Amino acid sequence: DTAKVTIDPAFRIGPADRRLFGSFVEHMGRCVYGGVFEPGHPTADPLGLRGDVLELTRELGVSVVRYPGGNFVSGYRWEDGVGPTGDRPRRLDLAWKSIETNAFGLDEFMVWARAAGVEPMMAVNLGTRGVQEACDLLEYANHPGGTHLSDLRRKHGAEDPYDIRLWCLGNEMDGPWQVGHKTADEYGRLAAETARAMKMVDPRVSLVACGSSNRGMPTFAAWEATVLEHTYEHVDYISAHTYYDPTDGDRASILASAVDMDAFITEVVATADQVAAKQRRARRLKISFDEWNVWYQQRLAADLDRDWAEAPALIEDTFTATDAVVVGDLLITLLRHADRVGVACQAQLANVIAPIRTVTGGSAWRQSIFHPFALTARHARGTVLRTEPTGPSHDTARYGRVPSVDTVAVHDEETGALAVFAVNRGDTDIQLQLDLRALPGLVAHEHLSIAAGDATNTAETPDRVTPRLLAPPTDGLVRLEAASWNLIRFA
Ligand code: AHR
Repeated sequence: DTAKVTIDPAFRIGPADRRLFGSFVEHMGRCVYGGVFEPGHPTADPLGLRGDVLELTRELGVSVVRYPGGNFVSGYRWEDGVGPTGDRPRRLDLAWKSIETNAFGLDEFMVWARAAGVEPMMAVNLGTRGVQEACDLLEYANHPGGTHLSDLRRKHGAEDPYDIRLWCLGNEMDGPWQVGHKTADEYGRLAAETARAMKMVDPRVSLVACGSSNRGMPTFAAWEATVLEHTYEHVDYISAHTYYDPTDGDRASILASAVDMDAFITEVVATADQVAAKQRRARRLKISFDEWNVWYQQRLAADLDRDWAEAPALIEDTFTATDAVVVGDLLITLLRHADRVGVACQAQLANVIAPIRTVTGGSAWRQSIFHPFALTARHARGTVLRTEPTGPSHDTARYGRVPSVDTVAVHDEETGALAVFAVNRGDTDIQLQLDLRALPGLVAHEHLSIAAGDATNTAETPDRVTPRLLAPPTDGLVRLEAASWNLIRFA
């Protein structure tokens, strides 16, 4: 089979915002405890931050990290996690049937974020709490000093304000599983008033209203419309979450997951723009795609079928090479919508459906999905260019007929470098012809590829799935192996 794509620097979508390469640290399972934080671990610093996980986080190229949840945040009292560790209360975490020791909290997270070189993205609790607690947290974090809460932060060792700019107004408030779940009107009103007050505390913050927990929610689109009717003027982003489940073994469908993400983005944009039109607003919102990944979801029920426990192992999925191809395609999709997706966070960073896995007291390693993320974050620099591949299509049970090839290109105008990301979702090899006439003189110098398969990386075999280096294409003709993710770099 053959496919064709034209790459032209005139077809600009927008800058490849670094915030598209975000991740997520939730107090869930062993993401915090035994993941980023493990006092006594051989690589831990005096605070307890694991050095091996920090190093892998930097290598992953993560830009923004959302914290502290997730479902966890909807029952969280942020003040439990600050101040002398010995005084911090042990609490029931209803979201994950866990005991939260509060040994790690905002102050530790901020030290970790600085060490990792990432921008913090905080979520406030709008499940069991409201306007006042959100403003209190923002005052603690961002107010310079001279008030009770800002002076408390200084007393806890952080003289300078944290200056956190990105804030989520709750988490998945459309989900009946959420502690403090609300109707769209209830949430919309609360989010609007919280946003208004938070911008009084610190007008520089950017705020994210909760959109749908996934595109299949019965309230999808109606939820966004109602929430934005209440909040449009006060917020900067509407969130989207999605997870793709490979459990049923339908390989053709899971490989086509990005088709769903693409439609999801288009529909949320249309819904937000409809509210803008109705309210006569010129300002356009962006999407914060602040949870996305592959997730073998049916394992969660078994993980929760136990007694209350501290940092129990939860959804520690072991990802295959096929999952890595899917993750690569989801990143292509996010980049292709760089004009309307302003933030994206893969969920989560360590152990919990994560690119980084650890053994408590032991090693840390890169899962298969680590590689497409790290390579995309490293090489998608500059301007995202629109590509419209033509070529074969094939049938899938979940999404009907889908294009077999998906591509995006990112052009660095300063260095002249061009990165082409391409996925072959089908089960036969495809020769992709790149038309680069608008970028004369470029020479391909690298072709990296990950082919789908059942191989996984484990503590014992941490490097079974890694990108393969192929011969760079000549004459712009690239062989896309059946079911593979590819990065072709030109300079
Ligand atoms: O990332 C795991 C969970 O998935 C999050 O806590 C929640 O927001 C989503 O349902």
